[in-house]
Amino acid sequence: MEIKSENVVWHDGKVTKADREKLLKQKGVLVWFTGLPSSGKSTVSREVEKRLYEMGKLVYVLDGDNIRHGLNGNLGFSPEDRKENIRRIGEVAKLFTDAGIITLTAFISPYKADRDRVRKLLKDNEFIEVYVKCPVDICVKRDPKGMYKRALNGEIKEFTGISAPYEEPENPEIILETDKENVEKSAQKIIDYLKLHLII
Ligand code: ADX
Repeated sequence: MEIKSENVVWHDGKVTKADREKLLKQKGVLVWFTGLPSSGKSTVSREVEKRLYEMGKLVYVLDGDNIRHGLNGNLGFSPEDRKENIRRIGEVAKLFTDAGIITLTAFISPYKADRDRVRKLLKDNEFIEVYVKCPVDICVKRDPKGMYKRALNGEIKEFTGISAPYEEPENPEIILETDKENVEKSAQKIIDYLKLHLII
């Protein structure tokens, strides 16, 4: 990214992240779901969101299909645009995390370098990478939005899993196998992780 914001100085307030976390009785973290289209990122993140809300936690989901309507409406699916998509989401998610919110993101985020860049934006233990693992043939069968069908027909170019790559995470904090476990089980794995690491 070309830096144009010269002569700008970061300004800290009098209230810290730790203060907000004390108020909210939780830690602000970023739970980053990554996986193929139709692997279950949105479904599991929405289930985790519901459970955390019911436990009295402040949680917010940033979801690919929603963010691409607004903030990232000017981006397509070339490698460069996906990189910029993830960069902006990373910056927004960092602010949410600093606000003390348990932030869940559901983006394909197919490139390892783009995900690692977001990891580096945050402190150790603030970034929790969740690999939503599911074989592509199962994702093709699920295809709730009919996108794989259109991609296989050549109607959608550069479609992840068909005509664009997906790079698997090497050391994700959590792996969900959505072809083998149901939504409840996957969501419980996330909740268990957050409890074990004293985030909630
Ligand atoms: S990412 O690769 O940049 O992380 P993101 O998660 O924001 O992608 O958006 C993925 C959503 O965009 C999919 O759920 C799908 O509905 C839609 N989409 C449209 N075109 C493509 C494409 N070529 N590849 C992947 N998803 C696409």
